[in-house]
Amino acid sequence: TSNHLRHVESMSTLPSGAGKVSHLNAVILGEALASEENDLVFPSEQFSSQALVPSPQKYLEMYTRSIQDPAGFWSDIASQFCWKQKWGEKVHSENLDVRNGNIKIEWFKGGITNICYNCVDRNVEAGLGDKIALYWEGNEPGFDDTLTYSQLLHGVCQLANYLKDIGVKKGDAVVIYLPMLMELPIAMLACARIGAVHSVVFAGFSAESLAQRIVDCKPKVVITCNAVKRGPKIINLKDIVDAALIESAKNGISVDVCLTYENPSAMKRESTNWQEGRDVWWLDVVPKYPSTCEVEWVDAEDPLFLLYTSGSTGKPKGVLHTTGGYMVYTATTFKYAFDYKPSDVYWCTADCGWITGHSYVTYGPLLNGATVVVFEGAPNYPDPGRCWDIVDKYKVTVFYTAPTLVRSLMRDGDEHVTCYSRKSLRVLGSVGEPINPSAWRWFFNVVGDSRCPISDTWWQTETGGFMITPLPGAWPQKPGSATFPFFGVQPVIVDEKGVEIEGECSGYLCVKGSWPGAFRTLYGDHERYETTYFKPFPGYYFTGDGCSRDKDGYHWLTGRVDDVINVSGHRIGTAEVESALVSHPQCAEAAVVGVEHEVKGQGIYAFVTLVEGVPYSEELRKSLMLTVRKQIGAFAAPDKIHWAPGLPKTRSGKIMRRILRKIASKQLDELGDTSTLADPSVVDQLIALADC
Ligand code: WT7
Repeated sequence: TSNHLRHVESMSTLPSGAGKVSHLNAVILGEALASEENDLVFPSEQFSSQALVPSPQKYLEMYTRSIQDPAGFWSDIASQFCWKQKWGEKVHSENLDVRNGNIKIEWFKGGITNICYNCVDRNVEAGLGDKIALYWEGNEPGFDDTLTYSQLLHGVCQLANYLKDIGVKKGDAVVIYLPMLMELPIAMLACARIGAVHSVVFAGFSAESLAQRIVDCKPKVVITCNAVKRGPKIINLKDIVDAALIESAKNGISVDVCLTYENPSAMKRESTNWQEGRDVWWLDVVPKYPSTCEVEWVDAEDPLFLLYTSGSTGKPKGVLHTTGGYMVYTATTFKYAFDYKPSDVYWCTADCGWITGHSYVTYGPLLNGATVVVFEGAPNYPDPGRCWDIVDKYKVTVFYTAPTLVRSLMRDGDEHVTCYSRKSLRVLGSVGEPINPSAWRWFFNVVGDSRCPISDTWWQTETGGFMITPLPGAWPQKPGSATFPFFGVQPVIVDEKGVEIEGECSGYLCVKGSWPGAFRTLYGDHERYETTYFKPFPGYYFTGDGCSRDKDGYHWLTGRVDDVINVSGHRIGTAEVESALVSHPQCAEAAVVGVEHEVKGQGIYAFVTLVEGVPYSEELRKSLMLTVRKQIGAFAAPDKIHWAPGLPKTRSGKIMRRILRKIASKQLDELGDTSTLADPSVVDQLIALADC
């Protein structure tokens, strides 16, 4: 185990300018590490010796350069991609301080490229045409398919030609509402190929949520499929889209074409509801188009996609990512955080409906010419061993998932894991929420046979790619810590006043400076972008997360500090759930808080005040749940509805969530000062109703 300590101790002088990375000095100098060896998990010597970044020194050398000379560091990497025309003199420009005018971030401006070309054509040209790009594993064991890079190129070109033919042009939005079929990454790439801006909506969102997104980005086309099987259930996606399109039309937005993929294992054509003139079967039209298609060359700063995410108000935010910086960043983070080798078979269990599926199912891996597993089903269907069955079937080497899945499989028992070989596994990854040390250790010891480093990647929809992450092979790990910043990223921890705190500390996590994968705006609302992210702590990007840094410089994410909760790695705004609840005719008021949940990380706990005279009933509880499912999606349904004759409010009418959180988590001796409440007696009433 002393391999790294030796490395670390032999490091006598820090590179010049390392003052800028002072938070790393402790760990680089090694004193601190030695004292805490028990908490550290070292990569094996064999792993490190073959790793892209084999030591803390190598990391520090690269990191230091990335901070001192971001333009040089990132242009060297960007040059490995295909550009029709090189970017201008200025590699990046940015104003990240609201006090100096509007926030504006640009990377590789003037560079002309295409990310689809770089993901697919470039790899085919490099001789990877016959390499498997996608392995598809269906919901039912035994249903599978593969696409080589050449076949992927053909499929993408046909769809791109079809989209062009029906009038989709550069800059037009296309909404994609598909489950994890290969057609989902194909559709994303086809949009990118022609310069259209995709907006993938997770196929677990309800008709109303889908409509809300359609109304916001006004696509000409919606791409969907008729139905999908997820676990034992069949979900009729086309009906959801139909309802969403009726709803959008009411808001003045009509969609010309609904391109529908037939998913015969879930539903036959004949049973699919159909609107002649608008609805088109993918398989009737797309395969007729030529399998080559010129790409639309775009500026690095042209938009690539929109992805809606939750914030602290009821309205979802359309996070906008552009092309060049995102391309360079997702490719580089993928490569280093998973220590990518061309022989890897990579599986990320996330759905392309979330950012993880954008950056680390589709773009990041394909930009590296990787082989990716796309899984349609539920990870515990037909039994809790499914993941390891898939790992063995495809000889998966890098497995990237969410803590919620780790915890749920851990509960199902080790025997479902240990009866599979898993010896292909090399690197494990975790994302979406902090991974608790006991889940970390189970993942490491049982799943990875104490052999595979875990990359606990901290990042956000907004950041485009990993921000704080281990580089397996470089660092000894601490279970539950996301460790150190990725190249080019300068995390800072600030106090309430926005003052940076050094050394061992905890506070609000912000980022100084920009990185190529950063989002550029919120679609149609640059002001909200500035207000939400850049005004709370002027001079920095504010992440919304709390974080502490230990004496060795390791980062420990502590969860959201705003009104966003994280349920099974899905980000949900408490305000969204509240607004769904109060739309119920019998609900007068609602306040939603997160509570600790054994498997999901956080659960949704809703305090609900009914309209005067309406009695509490089980039926009403169900009806409120259904309202949330219908308005947002099943994943946002509250775990608990707590009847509330009144809510604890200040005299000015502000709900005191701090108190609600304590009641929800039954920490009644920690209620704190309730004397500032307009009516302190509501607290006792709430406590009395806790188990009703
Ligand atoms: C929020 C972002 C980014 C992909 C999935 C979620 C939390 C994410 C970690 C991690 C601790 C994490 C944060 C963040 N989060 N990864 N490794 N450790 N927290 O994307 O929906 O944009 O949510 O997820 O709270 O702010 P997202």
